[in-house]
Amino acid sequence: MEPKTPSESRTLMTDMVLPSETNPLNNLFGGELLARMDRAASIAARRHSRRITVTASVNHVAFNQAVPVGSVVTVEAAVSRAFKTSMEVYIDVWMEDRFNGERCKVNEAIFTFVAVDDTGKPTKVPELKPETDLEIKRYEAALRRKQLSLVLAGKMKPKDATELKALFMD
Ligand SMILES: CC(C)(COP(=O)(O)OP(=O)(O)OC[C@H]1O[C@@H](n2cnc3c(N)ncnc32)[C@H](O)[C@@H]1OP(=O)(O)O)[C@@H](O)C(=O)NCCC(=O)NCCS
Repeated sequence: MEPKTPSESRTLMTDMVLPSETNPLNNLFGGELLARMDRAASIAARRHSRRITVTASVNHVAFNQAVPVGSVVTVEAAVSRAFKTSMEVYIDVWMEDRFNGERCKVNEAIFTFVAVDDTGKPTKVPELKPETDLEIKRYEAALRRKQLSLVLAGKMKPKDATELKALFMD
């Protein structure tokens, strides 16, 4: 399988925040944003692997800034690292200024997807070849995030999480 770049999986989803999608403060409801992120990230994982992909884990979400009703929101997702059958997908959420159209980043998240065959069995995915400085930074940190996620899920012993442990030794 030929390696792929993050730009080959990059997925942009732009939509407005409607009143039915808000919390009592008239800001975008967190669960609605999570659904939008899951959808965009799933498409990115599918573009990278050209397989059926399932969400295996939500590794990180930060709701840094409230998104008011009426806002135009863009969810940008791209594969940040591919392992054997799993892919880390990095999601940036942007809000467009109503007056000058400038975009500012309001939230981010990191999800893990697994490529599966028609029976739901994990199947191999192409490697990822990062190009830009940001893509390389995200790629390099992805292994310790995978190890943390596996430790928290009880699927890896902390003593085996070498990359993660190294973070605390420096
Ligand atoms: C995700 C799923 C396919 C993994 O199946 P599994 O039998 O645990 O398979 P494996 O142990 O071989 O893991 C497959 C890959 O997922 C990774 N993985 C599994 N759980 C993970 C977790 N919590 N965090 C990060 N990676 C995880 C493994 O490390 C492995 O990666 P690799 O092959 O790239 O090294 C299976 O648990 C599943 O189908 N879950 C339901 C998915 C779903 O329905 N999602 C929608 C939510 S409603």
